[in-house]
Amino acid sequence: MLERFDNYQLLSKIATGGMAEIFLAKHVNSPVNSMPIAIKKVLKQYGNNPMLVKMFLAEARIICNISHENIVKIYDFGKFDDQYFIAMEYVFGQNLGAIIEKLKERDLIMPLNLTIEIISAVLCGLDHAHNAQDRNGNFLNIVHLDMNPNNILISYEGKIKVVDFGIANANYTKKFKDSAGIQGTYAYLSPEQCSGKAVDRRSDIFSVGIILYEMLTGHTLYKQLDNDMAIMNSILNDEIEPINELMPEIDPKLAKIVMKALEKNPNRRYASAMDMREDLQLVYNSLEFDPNSEMLPAFVKKLFPAHFIKMTKIIEQAQTEYLMDELFNNIGELEDLDLEEKKKTEEAARQKEEAEKKRVKKKAFFSRLGLVSGIVAGLAVIALILKFLFVDPDVKVDMITVFSNPGGAQIFVDGEDTGKVTPASLQLEHGKKYIIDFIKDNMIGTLEFTPSSENRQINMQLKPR
Ligand SMILES: Nc1ncnc2c1ncn2[C@@H]1O[C@H](COP(=O)(O)OP(=O)(O)O)[C@@H](O)[C@H]1O
Ligand SMILES: [Mg+2]
Repeated sequence: MLERFDNYQLLSKIATGGMAEIFLAKHVNSPVNSMPIAIKKVLKQYGNNPMLVKMFLAEARIICNISHENIVKIYDFGKFDDQYFIAMEYVFGQNLGAIIEKLKERDLIMPLNLTIEIISAVLCGLDHAHNAQDRNGNFLNIVHLDMNPNNILISYEGKIKVVDFGIANANYTKKFKDSAGIQGTYAYLSPEQCSGKAVDRRSDIFSVGIILYEMLTGHTLYKQLDNDMAIMNSILNDEIEPINELMPEIDPKLAKIVMKALEKNPNRRYASAMDMREDLQLVYNSLEFDPNSEMLPAFVKKLFPAHFIKMTKIIEQAQTEYLMDELFNNIGELEDLDLEEKKKTEEAARQKEEAEKKRVKKKAFFSRLGLVSGIVAGLAVIALILKFLFVDPDVKVDMITVFSNPGGAQIFVDGEDTGKVTPASLQLEHGKKYIIDFIKDNMIGTLEFTPSSENRQINMQLKPR
């Protein structure tokens, strides 16, 4: 795995372009379906070039204004670690340049229906960009200016997207664009780009015309030329060989479309990408192709099986890691939840137990109390009965009041604890001799006492033991 960059984990380098590197990446903390992402980073050596940085940011701003299925979506742009970057949707597939190269290696050309499908989709995306407006409804007058096969991406699912508005022209980029001179891939420039004249959307139509011509014929128009000057010279001055001469079997209507897009004078070209697309659609419909949406994906996958498998593995691994991360995070959360839940449950169980204990204690206390009071009551009844049956009715009981100094002393009568503390009253038998003891902390007192009519009160002075 490569380094982390801002909020993105870089997974694999896709390409090194003119002034930027492109990486497959994943966002470090977005949901799994936001994956995968492509990160385009300006190479460090260009980070200090204000014009290039401006262009790069202009690209980001331009695509930000555009949302179309045939244009690569941009998610984020900015600067991290002194490097400008764009985060965009990753198109899992190949650029058209690589596809054309592969076909050439095998001496093949793109099937006609797929060629028309691809160019039609590109024209759709471009038309949308050409007509883009700002929030106030003003046309941005965006022109891509670098329409070449490498900037057309075809996914293994058959999606077709235009990328790299890196030198795109828009109202607000015009100033520095003028001072930037010619840019773009030379072999796909329009005559007006080569001569430094004003450009508009029709410049992109010329570039798409070159791509279409090359796809249909399997021959390059300018790419084979030695150097940039020769290319520009040829674009400006050389007549293009009519496509029907090179390809006599070509549908004449299709040949007309190609040559109209390649008119050197913009006024004779299609006025808009949509006009050209409409003509292409008419040809497409008249040729009655088998409408098989699986053909393009199968075709591209077949050309690049190793790349498809390698990248699938990388993406799947990253997605698995993503899922694992999410899973682990969730497990962590669940564990935390679990712990809290456990604590709560334990606390609730403890409180319940405590309450239960208290309840049981209370119950036990009351039942013991009940039992004791029952026994006491029973005994009292028995005593009453016994008293009634056996006690001598002549026995006289005196009420004796008992004080001590200090007070609060336990009272024992004939060695028996009365359960009473001074001051208290005792019922004692008249005329009977008692030994009464007092205990308070380490103070004691004892006396012999016989209740009588004059002797009904005890005042006991306690002494240290
Ligand atoms: N979003 C993307 N998804 C997949 N591949 C991409 C993406 N963006 C760029 N690429 C690949 O990287 C190449 C260079 O990217 P590009 O934006 O055209 O950079 P440059 O400005 O250097 O031409 C493209 O031709 C394409 O193969
Ligand atoms: Mg490019």
